[in-house]
Amino acid sequence: MLYIGEQIGRAKEGCPKLDIAVDPLDGTNSVAKGLSNAISVVAVAPKGCLLHAPDMYMKKIAVGPRAKGSIDINASVEENLINIAKALNKDISDLTVTMLDRPRHNDLIASIRKVGARIKLFRDGDVAAAIATCFDHSGVDVLMGIGGAPEGVLAAAALKCMEGELQGKLMPSSDEQRVRCVEMGVDVERVFTLDDLVRGNEILFAATG
Ligand code: FBP
Repeated sequence: MLYIGEQIGRAKEGCPKLDIAVDPLDGTNSVAKGLSNAISVVAVAPKGCLLHAPDMYMKKIAVGPRAKGSIDINASVEENLINIAKALNKDISDLTVTMLDRPRHNDLIASIRKVGARIKLFRDGDVAAAIATCFDHSGVDVLMGIGGAPEGVLAAAALKCMEGELQGKLMPSSDEQRVRCVEMGVDVERVFTLDDLVRGNEILFAATG
């Protein structure tokens, strides 16, 4: 891992200054249990372009390039699914929403079922799941739900490269985390767009399974 602010590289005069976000293993439990879909990921961008996301949860919604422009994290699940289905020219019943298999998503699951879309749960690794929305063959159209905020920045870097879209909102779950948001000057109601998470277009992203 790199800690926030850790400096690496030769840092010679005239060298470009970069932000690096890294997750050596997104899906630690998956590897420990011999399951699939764990990845190592790194994103690189000019200094100041990657959000220094605090280590807390983030509510996310992500889609691939064909559904770009159709999501709004503040809108209802129903509204989002209607708009995504329109953008993809699909019936809602043919839309697949993927999310982490966590009890905190029970209400979200109920809302999706009410609208009639399909659900694909996964055990771990929401960076890979966000990226999956960009590939038709993955069988998933949209990622919803709550995962790690640093993973949100990494997923945003990937989706920017692939011309998809991701929006996020920090979800502090303790007073300490709420204080952390205040110290960072972040309003918890703030919606982080793709450009807030990853500024500009000079992004490098690599992932390997
Ligand atoms: P780690 O491999 O770093 O533990 O992350 C796995 C992961 O599934 C992430 O992809 C996801 O964002 C986060 O954990 C979800 O957190 P939690 O397990 O607390 O629901």
